[in-house]
Amino acid sequence: MYNCFSDFVCVIDSGVGGLTVLRQLQCEFPRCNYVYLADSSHCPYGVKSPQEIQHRVETLIKYFYENGAQAVVIACNTASVFAETMRSKFNLAIFDVIAPTCKQVASVTRTKKVVLLATNTTVKSRAYQKELQQFGITVTAFPCSDFVPFVEKNAVDTAECSEVVASTLSTLPQCDADTVILGCTHFPILYKKISPYAKGKKIVECCCDFQPSIIYSSKSALQTMFLTTGVAEQANNASQWFGKTNFVHVDL
Ligand code: DGL
Repeated sequence: MYNCFSDFVCVIDSGVGGLTVLRQLQCEFPRCNYVYLADSSHCPYGVKSPQEIQHRVETLIKYFYENGAQAVVIACNTASVFAETMRSKFNLAIFDVIAPTCKQVASVTRTKKVVLLATNTTVKSRAYQKELQQFGITVTAFPCSDFVPFVEKNAVDTAECSEVVASTLSTLPQCDADTVILGCTHFPILYKKISPYAKGKKIVECCCDFQPSIIYSSKSALQTMFLTTGVAEQANNASQWFGKTNFVHVDL
């Protein structure tokens, strides 16, 4: 058994969207090492079947598990649906983004009526609807999988992206809700495009409840490693908004 990820917090997503969660983690826990894995060769997850997504999540977590990881953050809502199943399969601390985001939403909404923007598969899974029901919150969901490729292609600042956002969210301003959940980790990158349709409503980005007590800060110099199952150059290009990434290809 290798032990190459024992000092790292492993963060996974279908692509570069999970970097929005990595950014939060780096701010909150700057004394941790991170390894970020973008499953770019299988992106987007949000239009795949639950079986396909579960298979990919299991493959990625198994890779980290076999290489000595102690903690994995699933920085993807579509994959977070399977967090509980993964916890039952691996003796590993696995953190997801859906339950913590719902807790956050419950503390923000006053009317208990919220809008969910998420991938088609996340919406269909009803994971958010079920979790929020416990707080007496009702959800109007917008399947927004069409947004994801614009982020992956670094094409957010295009007229085509604006058109897709406009047609998908045209009825959002009339929704009887006081909060909009960005229930996909890719969507904060589209914040400027989405926010005009959420006018007057609070916007909540997803978060996780990672506990650093599991990962001790490294003996070696702090570092963040970026891995992709796709083309490294494309991942670097799509994450310019994040800063320097230096993605390295990995076959998984
Ligand atoms: N970033 C992912 C999420 O939070 C999904 C994007 C995709 O469709 O691959 O759901």
